[in-house]
Amino acid sequence: MQKPWEGRFKEATDKFVESFTQSVDFDKELAPWDIEQSMAHVKTLLSAGLLSQEEAQSLLQGLQELQKEVLQGSFEFRRELEDVHMNVEAELISRLGEVGGKLHTARSRNDQVVTDERLYVKDGVREVCRLLGEVRRRLVELAEESIDILLPAYTHLQRAQPIRLAHYLLAYREMFLEDERRLLQAYRSADALALGSGAVAGVDFPLDRFYTAELLRFNRLCRNSVQATADRDYLLDLLYACAVCGMHLSRLAEDLILWSTEEFGFVELPDRLCTGSSIMPQKKNPDLLELIRGKAGRLYGNLVSLLTVLKALPTAYNRDLQEDKEPVFDSLKTLKGSLEGMSLVLEGIQFREDRMKSASGGLALMTDLANYLVLKGLPFRQAHRLVGSITAYLLERGKKPEELSLEELRRFSELFEEDALRLLDPQVSADRKGTYGGTAKEEVLRRLQVAKREEGIP
Ligand code: ARG
Repeated sequence: MQKPWEGRFKEATDKFVESFTQSVDFDKELAPWDIEQSMAHVKTLLSAGLLSQEEAQSLLQGLQELQKEVLQGSFEFRRELEDVHMNVEAELISRLGEVGGKLHTARSRNDQVVTDERLYVKDGVREVCRLLGEVRRRLVELAEESIDILLPAYTHLQRAQPIRLAHYLLAYREMFLEDERRLLQAYRSADALALGSGAVAGVDFPLDRFYTAELLRFNRLCRNSVQATADRDYLLDLLYACAVCGMHLSRLAEDLILWSTEEFGFVELPDRLCTGSSIMPQKKNPDLLELIRGKAGRLYGNLVSLLTVLKALPTAYNRDLQEDKEPVFDSLKTLKGSLEGMSLVLEGIQFREDRMKSASGGLALMTDLANYLVLKGLPFRQAHRLVGSITAYLLERGKKPEELSLEELRRFSELFEEDALRLLDPQVSADRKGTYGGTAKEEVLRRLQVAKREEGIP
C-alpha cells in the first residue's frame, strides 16, 4: 500500500511502527463526521475555484457513497492506512482516480482531525443531554409522587434531620441540571471551525472559512491557526463535565445501594435490575448500581489522561495528540451507559415509606427541641448543651424523644411547655424548615413547580 509521503522516504515503514502508530482501530469512530467535513471542504474548494463543477460533483458523489457504507458498517478500514482520514481519502482515490487526489487540497490532517472531533463532541453532548434530561424528569416525577414521604437526612452517615424524600430527589435533579450547564459549556467550546488552519500556519488558497463554518453549522471560527491545531481544551471541558456528572451518578448509586441493604431497607430494587450470586442462594446484588458507581473511576481517569498528554507539549500539532481520542470516546460511551442505567433504576425503584418514616424520628428531632428553647429566648449555645444532656438521658435509658413526658422535659428546663411535645414529630420538624430551598412541604412544592416548568413537564 502506498503512503502519501512515499516520495520522501527510501524504505517502507517498519511493521511494528505501523501498528504502534496507527489509530484507525479507534478513530474509525469519526468516519461519519470526517466524511461530512470533507463534503463541506469540497464545496469550499469549489467556491474558491480550486475544483471544477464536475470534479466537485464527482467527489461529492463518491463521498456520499462512502458515507452510506460507513453507516451500514460495510466500509473496510485498513490498518496500514494509519487513520480514518487516510482510509477515507485512499478509498475515494481508488474509486474516482485522479480527482480523488484533489480532496486534500488546502487541508492538513491537523486541522481535519480537530474539525472531526469538534463535530463529534457537539453531537455527543446533544445525546448525553437528552439522556440526562430523562433522568432529571424521572426524578421530578418521583418527587411529585413522594411528596409526603419522610426520611432521615444523614450527615457523616449518621442520622441528622428529617427531610422529605422529594427534597432529596430534587437535590439530585439540581446536580444533574448543573451537569447539563457544564456539558453545554463544552458544546460551546467545541463550536468553532478549525478547518482552514492547515498544518499550523493557515493555507495558501483563498478559502472562505465563514462559508465552511456555515455548511458545518459551526457558530464561529477558530481565530488563530496555531491555536486551532494545538488546542484540545474543548475536549478537556467535555471530559470534566462527564467526570462531574459521573461523580453525581456515583453518589446517587451509592445511596441507593446502601438503602437497598437489609440494614436500611429504604428501597427495593426490581429483580430484573439485579443479579444473584454463584454460591450464596439468598443474594440479590445491585450490580448495575455498583457499576454506575465504579464507572466514575474511568471518567476521572480519562480527564487526567488527556490533561497529562497536553502538559508541556510543544506548541501546535504533535502526534501525542492522537491520544486524545480514546478518552473522549470512552467518556461519552460510559456516561451514556450510566445515564441509561440510572433511568432504568429510577423507573423500577420502590421506596419503602414505612422504613424511611420510622427511621426519621427519634434523635433526628433533637435540633428541633434546641430551636424551641431558642424561640423561648435561650441563647443557642446553651440550648445546644441542654438538649445534649437530654440526649444523654435518653441514651442511658434507651428511650426515644417521642416518649418523653412534659414533666421529664421540665426537669431540664422550665422553658418547656406543652407545645414542645408536638415538635417531636418528623413531619412537623420538616415543615418548620420553610426557608427558600428548605424541606418544608410548601417550599418543596414550590421548587417542584419550578422544576416541572424547567423540565417542560405539564
Ligand atoms: N491520526 C492523527 C491524530 O489523530 C491525525 C493527525 C495526524 N497528523 C500528522 N501530521 N501526522 O492525531
